[in-house]
Amino acid sequence: MRSFQVKTILAILSFCLIVSEATAQSQLRFVTWRSEAAGVWDRIIADFETHHAGVEVVREIGPHSSTEFHDLVTQKLRNRDPEMDVFFMDVIWPGEFAAAGWALPLDEFFSAAQQKEFLSAPIEANRYRGRIYGVPLFVDAGMLYFRKDLLAKYRLAPPRTWPELVDQAKLILARERDPYLTGYSAQFKQYEGLICNMMEFIMSNGASLWDEQNLKSTLDGDQAKQAVRFVRDQIVRKISHRGVLAYQEPESLALFTQGKALFHRNWPYAWEVANDPKRSKIAGHVGMMPLPSFPGHKSVATLGGWQLGISRFSRNPRLAWEFVQHMTSREAQKQIALATGRGPARAALYHDPEVLAKHPHFSSRYETFTLAAPRPRTPVYLPLSNIMQRYFSSAIAIPDSDIDQLARLATRDMDRVLDLLRERPSR
Ligand code: GLC
Repeated sequence: MRSFQVKTILAILSFCLIVSEATAQSQLRFVTWRSEAAGVWDRIIADFETHHAGVEVVREIGPHSSTEFHDLVTQKLRNRDPEMDVFFMDVIWPGEFAAAGWALPLDEFFSAAQQKEFLSAPIEANRYRGRIYGVPLFVDAGMLYFRKDLLAKYRLAPPRTWPELVDQAKLILARERDPYLTGYSAQFKQYEGLICNMMEFIMSNGASLWDEQNLKSTLDGDQAKQAVRFVRDQIVRKISHRGVLAYQEPESLALFTQGKALFHRNWPYAWEVANDPKRSKIAGHVGMMPLPSFPGHKSVATLGGWQLGISRFSRNPRLAWEFVQHMTSREAQKQIALATGRGPARAALYHDPEVLAKHPHFSSRYETFTLAAPRPRTPVYLPLSNIMQRYFSSAIAIPDSDIDQLARLATRDMDRVLDLLRERPSR
């Protein structure tokens, strides 16, 4: 009798073990951030589970900020955490993740023919030393949004240059006398978004962040400093309120959709949100155009976007690949584009009749995305970004900041980091 009981208990225990192993094996862990169209994501993921019996996709939702999300993902990768299979990757990270041996090279799965179906800029961003480390999900490029109704009221044409934008904002703010209205809302908090915004000002004044060929910072140049000074003296001090220095994308967009900002810089998804009467008080009064430039120079939009990468420490890379393939498929990207207005990474969707019917402006977006300026591609992007974030933040937040001195220090520090690439060419 006793031996029967023991046998039964053992049988039950081993059954439980088998079940729990089976569950563990069929779990796929996906580290992502919360999409503004959560329902669409849920459906796409549920569809994957339906087609992969026994597989459960477990999502871990990380912070929205690129900088904070980077901390979360890199901590897991540094710990060789096998609990993360697939992760979101900002367009600036593949070089770093590849050099550190964290992201799985995908060449075995992601053929050259498949890669050709995507826009070339994000594919290039995912390449490092001839191998590919991520599959682009959607692309971003900085755009200018403005209050069509207010510009029309004062008979103003949308601004082509930054000084023109400032003059228009001053005029409208003076006439409207609305204490809650601000001229310009964008992302000036100290984080990655600040780099995107400042790069647009700097490059649209004919300068750059650093010289990629000679591995030297260029922030000490006159045109770069002039652009930074303009942001501090004209944008932050004259036409925005101080709160703008603490904004990332969601806060700056909220100000605009509440009708409290005249001009707004954001990524393409802002169009859908700003024109949705459920989420915006200014639906139907929004204009959108390329960002202004300084006189005599070209407008520049920073290239952004997100990819899916597979962890080198995943226990199930093949299943992870099937998931990545599913999430970046034409159908999934189409559903995401339809629901969010985010720019798909697959070129064909810019000619898709259903997508164009919902987002007619996508045909011109294609050009914006192909012309957008990538942030320089290097495995040491993050330390360089940190130095620049500190520089830009002090330079624009402190009214009498010594920009010459700050730029000199930032340049010196950046050059030291860039020197690492020279000393160790293998990295
Ligand atoms: C968007 C872009 C990303 C960028 C980030 C900065 O998410 O897609 O590339 O780094 O904004 O806030």
